[in-house]
Amino acid sequence: MNKPTVLSGIRPTGYLHLGNYFGAVCNFVRMQDDFNCFFFIADIHSLTTHPTPESLQTGVKQVLAEYIACGIDPEKATIFIQSDVPEVTELYTILNMNAYLGELERTTSFKEKARQQPDNLNVGLLTYPVLMAADIIIHKANFVPVGKDQEQHLEMARKFAVRFNSMYKKEVFPIPKPYTFNGKDMIKIPGLDGSGKMGKSEGNAINLYDDPKEIRKKVMRAVTDSGPTEMNQEKPETICNLYTLMEAVSKPEVVAHFNELYNKCEIRYGDMKKQLADDIISFTEPIRNRIIEILKDNEYLSKVAKLGAEKARASASKTLREVKEVVGFKKLF
Ligand code: TRP
Repeated sequence: MNKPTVLSGIRPTGYLHLGNYFGAVCNFVRMQDDFNCFFFIADIHSLTTHPTPESLQTGVKQVLAEYIACGIDPEKATIFIQSDVPEVTELYTILNMNAYLGELERTTSFKEKARQQPDNLNVGLLTYPVLMAADIIIHKANFVPVGKDQEQHLEMARKFAVRFNSMYKKEVFPIPKPYTFNGKDMIKIPGLDGSGKMGKSEGNAINLYDDPKEIRKKVMRAVTDSGPTEMNQEKPETICNLYTLMEAVSKPEVVAHFNELYNKCEIRYGDMKKQLADDIISFTEPIRNRIIEILKDNEYLSKVAKLGAEKARASASKTLREVKEVVGFKKLF
């Protein structure tokens, strides 16, 4: 039986953090056997922010190494770099003819950019959802695991796929569905600044690549309060966040111990943070060491990228051939 296809992409800016890991990457690792997986690095998308060539290259290499270090197996899954598959830009061009200015201008992410950076409101930002749709449907993806911030983009990809199919009266593209991981496995990692979510742009992230000193510094800075005053008191959000993070990286008995101290009003946040920092470090250190090793091995990294590009191009060119025929190209000869 054919495995369903799952696809996800990440822009090569910055490092993978604990939120990325527990929210997505660890689940990708589990999906490798049961799904036909495509994971790619969206370097074309990242050109909308005008990176220098050096920072773009460094970013791509970092994400590639981090994916592998987290356990994504390049033999099982297809890990590739977006710009290595030029077919996607061809499909993007074709899809652009059926994407309307009004709907692109109404996209939340575009409106946000228009507000944040009126001086660099390039057309790439406007058509960002079209390229993203091309990324997804060129591999006939059935599922796309997306977070809240990408929901609308996926909705647009679905719309473009439906529109193409109905315009040409042929089910060329399956309609990609959002993939939600089993609720039980899914941990939303909070930020340590009291905010609800750990994120790159929130500036509150602990990266897998951070060294122990950096991790300690970040954890010790975490926002707390003056402590509970009543037995078995409910925890406020900032304190819950600390515990949620601990549940992700520490042993259950450690979490139970600090819960008990909290309930007895004997908690000392300094001690808890020290333990949390130690446990985060034990968790990230093997990953960090693997990232460092992989980053040293350019030959291995190019081998992985080349293998990924071959697999992704085979899949993309097959779809593109079909699309071109449906559209009417090459019918004249
Ligand atoms: N827009 C996504 C992000 O910023 C990255 C991305 C590009 C993507 N193409 C995709 C994600 C296709 C999923 C599927 O995070």
